[in-house]
Amino acid sequence: MQNIESSRRVLVCQNRTCRKQGAAKVLTAFQQLSGSEVAVVASSCLGQCGSGPMVLVMPEQVWYSGIRPEEVVSVTEQHLQGGKPVKAMLYRKFHGSAN
Ligand code: FES
Repeated sequence: MQNIESSRRVLVCQNRTCRKQGAAKVLTAFQQLSGSEVAVVASSCLGQCGSGPMVLVMPEQVWYSGIRPEEVVSVTEQHLQGGKPVKAMLYRKFHGSAN
């Protein structure tokens, strides 16, 4: 069943620099933890190489940087399911200085 929530997408960069930083495991973690209401997408370079693995949540355009596989559960539960971005993990370049 598709509804408005199904437009939610999690882009996980799988380009070279992010892969070197462990993006494949981050992608796998999102795929395992996310429900059918979230589309997990292996993305090409998001233009933020060196701060990865980079993750971009659409459509609200919330960026996460340097995500570790074990942190994916926090993003999934607090943000994707709970609607509250995980402030401490946000990408500061785009979201200012997180608490
Ligand atoms: S390789 Fe991931 S942002 Fe460029």
